[in-house]
Amino acid sequence: ANIAVFASGSGSNFQAIQEAIVRGELDANIALVVTDKPGAYVETRAANFDIPVFAVSPKSFASKAAYEQAIVDELRANNIEWVVLAGYMRLVSDTLLTAYASKIVNIHPSLLPSFPGKDAIGQALAHGVKVTGVTVHFVDEGMDTGPIIAQIAVDVIDGNRELTEAAIHKAEHKLYTQALQQLFAGKVRVN
Ligand code: GRF
Repeated sequence: ANIAVFASGSGSNFQAIQEAIVRGELDANIALVVTDKPGAYVETRAANFDIPVFAVSPKSFASKAAYEQAIVDELRANNIEWVVLAGYMRLVSDTLLTAYASKIVNIHPSLLPSFPGKDAIGQALAHGVKVTGVTVHFVDEGMDTGPIIAQIAVDVIDGNRELTEAAIHKAEHKLYTQALQQLFAGKVRVN
C-alpha cells in the first residue's frame, strides 16, 4: 500500500511505522509525510529516511477546504492510497474525507469512546482510571469518533504521568503497525 502519514509534532508513530516497514513487518510504502506545522520534528525524522515532506500551514489558505484541497492534490500527485494520521492535531473535514472515503485512519491514546480529544492521557489520570489504552479507528468528521479497528489496554502506572505515557507510546507503536498490516491486507471488518 502507498501511504501518507500526517503528523503535527514529534512523529514517533511515523518512525515506528517506517521502522516496521524496513524490518519487513508491514507491507507498505510511506511515500509522503504531511505536516500542518512547518518545522515540526517529524520533518527531521522523515529526512532521516529520505521521505519527502509536504509542510502546509492552514493559515496560508483562505479556508479549510482550500487547505485540504492542496493536500488532496499532493496526495493524488503521489498516488497515495491510504492516509495514516499519527498525532495530526486537527479535525479532518469534507474535502479530505470525500477524496479518501474510508481510507483515513487515526491512533488515539485512550480506550475510545473514553477520553476523546486533546491530552487523553491527562484526562485518564485526572479521572483516576486504573486501565487506559490505545485505539486505532477510521476517521470521520467527529473528534475521535469513527469506527474502531483495534484496541489495546495499558495499565495506569502509579498514577504517574511519565511512566504511563511511556507505556502508552510503546503500545501505540506496536498496535498501529499491526492494525495497518491487517487493514492493508483487507482483513479489517467494522460495524
Ligand atoms: C500520540 O500519542 C497519538 O496517539 C496522539 O498524538 C501523539 C503523537 O505522538 N494523537 P508522535 O508525534 O507520534 O510521537
